[in-house]
Amino acid sequence: MSSQSNLGRTQILDRKNTEAEQGGGKDRIESQHAKGKLSARERIELLLDENTFEEIGKFVMHRSKDFGLDKEYYLGDGVVTGYGTITGRLVYVFAQDFTVFGGSLSETYAEKICKIMDMAMKNGAPVIGLNDSGGARIQEGVNSLAGYAEIFYRNTLASGVIPQISAIMGPCAGGAVYSPALTDYIFMVENTSYMFVTGPNVVKTVTHEDVTSEELGGAITHATKSGVTHFVTPNEAECINQIKKLFSYIPSNCEDQAPFAPYESDGHEKRPKLAGLLPENPNHPYDVRELIEELVDTNSFFEVHKTFAENIVVGFAHVGGRSVGIVANQPAVLAGVLDIHASIKGARFVRFCDCFNIPLLVLEDVPGFLPGPDQEWNGIIMHGAKLLYAFCEATVPRITVITRKAYGGAYCVMNSKHIGADMNYAWTTAEIAVMGAAGAAEIIFRKEISEADDPQAELRHKIEQYTEKFANPYKAAHRGYVDEVIKPEDTREKLLKAFKMLENKVDTLPRKKHGNIPL
Ligand code: HXC
Repeated sequence: MSSQSNLGRTQILDRKNTEAEQGGGKDRIESQHAKGKLSARERIELLLDENTFEEIGKFVMHRSKDFGLDKEYYLGDGVVTGYGTITGRLVYVFAQDFTVFGGSLSETYAEKICKIMDMAMKNGAPVIGLNDSGGARIQEGVNSLAGYAEIFYRNTLASGVIPQISAIMGPCAGGAVYSPALTDYIFMVENTSYMFVTGPNVVKTVTHEDVTSEELGGAITHATKSGVTHFVTPNEAECINQIKKLFSYIPSNCEDQAPFAPYESDGHEKRPKLAGLLPENPNHPYDVRELIEELVDTNSFFEVHKTFAENIVVGFAHVGGRSVGIVANQPAVLAGVLDIHASIKGARFVRFCDCFNIPLLVLEDVPGFLPGPDQEWNGIIMHGAKLLYAFCEATVPRITVITRKAYGGAYCVMNSKHIGADMNYAWTTAEIAVMGAAGAAEIIFRKEISEADDPQAELRHKIEQYTEKFANPYKAAHRGYVDEVIKPEDTREKLLKAFKMLENKVDTLPRKKHGNIPL
């Protein structure tokens, strides 16, 4: 018989729980706070519904003996893992604990993350990773690298099965960046988080450039220059709020539907403001966000990748309570032209929506692809093809509204009827043509214009001719390439009906192992 009483056994458990919950200790937690950062457990508490967190692997310890690790153990080994709910929906979560060995990843730490990823896949629920780590636990050598690779493998297998969300709330460097990069959405916190493959010291050694961590891989850099992060927030609390907001638009897995937002029509779905939204001069800009706000349920637009490739706007919204993904050319930036970054941004968003059964709404006003050596040499052909590919393979309900310009290849790419869109509307102001009237007239009437007594007057005349013939939606409507020409103010009503009509859409792709999107 054991000499220990039941009370004694309970006390051991309590003691171990307390020890695990202290992570790397009070001083290190205070040091986190002093940097404007929360502890791993505080982050989880903010993220999940109150008292719903169930921890898994709280007493896991590393198995290493090298470089003093035989004398230094922390229960939980530097990562807090488990499950809970957000607005009642199951999620799995891991939070790296910077207070334990700088949040560095060991073999056992990786096993804890893999365990919840496997559970999430089997049970069809998202994984949210809160990252704050010095990378591979240096004392462990290849065991740590193996742990990372096991995570990357699962990130990839889980891609398109369950949503994966990464928040970067501290350092994330070296190969460690590839786990977040394989997930669907990355959030970063201004001034306290950074991501890079090699840090400023290595940069200095290799390229002799002086660059700070913030410049090289801070939140603003990745939100504006690289597009690595989709969301930037001023602090951690706001970061967690934004994760929860994103969660409200997306389903839990690829077999699931996104949750409905409460919505009751007041019977007034006409939007008179839209009749006056477009400038009289078709070459003048307008902000497509104003258009989006009029079309979607009040204040429901949640923009993704807001400060990257601003010539295209993407994000989630509710239309009649239904979650939809919006892809809209932005005439207020570079006239809404498609370039490399816009194509990549749009393609990735379309593919996410298609993975997770979120219908697509495309708002089209695009003068074409951006010309020039810079774009050509950097591969606009290949990158533009990504957006085309993404739309072509999408089987979710797809609606396009052409508000103004639908020119050239961009007409085909932006969810045209020919590549599988379900409903295509054109406003009365739409211009559907191979190119703008001025450029077209100069090319096809070059001879007549140069031989005319007054070449300028002849050019104007030819532009008028071309405009009359093609700068309208009717040629396309006669052919059935647009399903209906509508007044701008009626657009919301049309969308409400069309998305409802399409709600049971079933479409499949030809049998294949997987496609070969131009990467
Ligand atoms: C073990 C680590 C660690 C690591 C930090 N610590 N990083 N322990 N392995 N990778 C420990 C420190 O020794 C220290 O322990 C505590 O964590 C806090 O670290 P500080 O340096 O005091 O914190 P701070 O000044 O905020 O600096 C944070 C940091 C720095 C910038 C992350 O610690 C750092 O540069 N760490 C090394 C980063 C790195 O080179 N990682 C390997 C990258 S390669 P004490 O006991 O003093 O509190 C990689 C490959 C992945 O990750 C490949 C995947 C395929």
